Amino acid sequence: MGLPTEAAPWFQSCLLTSRRPRRVGGPLQLLPCSDPGAVALRERAALSTASTEPMASQSGNGSTSLANSGRTAIPQPGHIEALQATAAYLMTPGKGILAADETIPHPTKRCEALGIASNAEFRRSYREMLFTAPDLADYISGVILQDETIRQNSECGVSMAGLLAGRGILPGIKVDRGAKPLAGYPGETVTEGLDGLRERLAEYVKFGAKFAKWRAVIRIGDATPTLACISANAHALARYAALCQEQALLPIVEPEVLMEGAHDIGHCEMVTGAVLEAVFRALYEQGVTLEAVLLKPSMVIAGQDCAKPASVKQVAAATLRTLRRHVPAAVPGIVFLSGGQDERLATTHLNAISNLAGSRPWSISFSYGRALQDPALNAWRGRSENRTVGREALSFRARCNAAASLGTYNDTMEATAHFD
Ligand code: 13P
Repeated sequence: MGLPTEAAPWFQSCLLTSRRPRRVGGPLQLLPCSDPGAVALRERAALSTASTEPMASQSGNGSTSLANSGRTAIPQPGHIEALQATAAYLMTPGKGILAADETIPHPTKRCEALGIASNAEFRRSYREMLFTAPDLADYISGVILQDETIRQNSECGVSMAGLLAGRGILPGIKVDRGAKPLAGYPGETVTEGLDGLRERLAEYVKFGAKFAKWRAVIRIGDATPTLACISANAHALARYAALCQEQALLPIVEPEVLMEGAHDIGHCEMVTGAVLEAVFRALYEQGVTLEAVLLKPSMVIAGQDCAKPASVKQVAAATLRTLRRHVPAAVPGIVFLSGGQDERLATTHLNAISNLAGSRPWSISFSYGRALQDPALNAWRGRSENRTVGREALSFRARCNAAASLGTYNDTMEATAHFD
């Protein structure tokens, strides 16, 4: 088996498999070696051996030819500067993003676990509590809203987006319509929502949204992810990002590799690298301007059922190594999702990543959902008399993560929590 020495043939073989009959590409393979250099080689080898199809078959849609290299950038004149300014604002040093965009069943499930009945008014009230937390704007530069929330008003009649903007926090909006089963690939999903997206984006701009997000979900299993799943999700992310830039919304591109499973950290590193390669290839093909995009990846971490959990040091090193290898320097910022990690561990990992030495062309911060909200929800428990402690719990977690984004978090900060 010959190893390709250039990235380009590897890219092409990766793309080729997406047009082949089902299952031909198969899952990514993991070879038994943990040396970082060899990891990159085995990634390429595993993917290149997945395809034996001649490259000439790519000519069908011309998507990888150079014919599109002379295309103009998607953002309209003037848009690009505005999008870059939004990116710079969101990546203000010492601040991060609060993801408050769970789809309705998610907060409902979490509320049920706490014995709280969830309805639209309840969710509005919960989110208003979050958005009015003290000092939130000191640590949070943007909040990702859900379609339901961006259409709601606060108690005093101001729109939720207006409430945030009035505090100096940029409102954003989740625009995908969720991960749906990928036909022909049991257990895998493709994120949907491209139909009518242009019109929805235009509407969200009118509601005051400044940025958007789209989440793709990649599951590691014995036979997953397949290249078909990776390329379908990468393509959708790129189409979404191009539409956002056209409509003057900054796209956050979120390819999440799930923590569910028994895989080890090396397996996660291989899959995350392959996913990022496919995503940036697709962004390039769709003419997305990388200077006006933020990446929201998962950290490189062992699966939650792995017998050999990775140390904080290992997670930080593998995450930064993978990002350095696969994320172009033109991208202004990377904001991690928490992915179901325990909230303190998510903070500790971010802090360790921030403290690693070596070059880092992009700014790094957080865009956490559960790791920011869970302590607030637990403190609040749906009772009006707990609103103050709920707000304090969110502010406290945001402060810890803001410190972690600067590498100045430590365990003693946890002892300063007053809301328990
Ligand atoms: P978590 O931090 O809970 O993973 O949520 C982030 C998010 O935006 C999920 O789409």
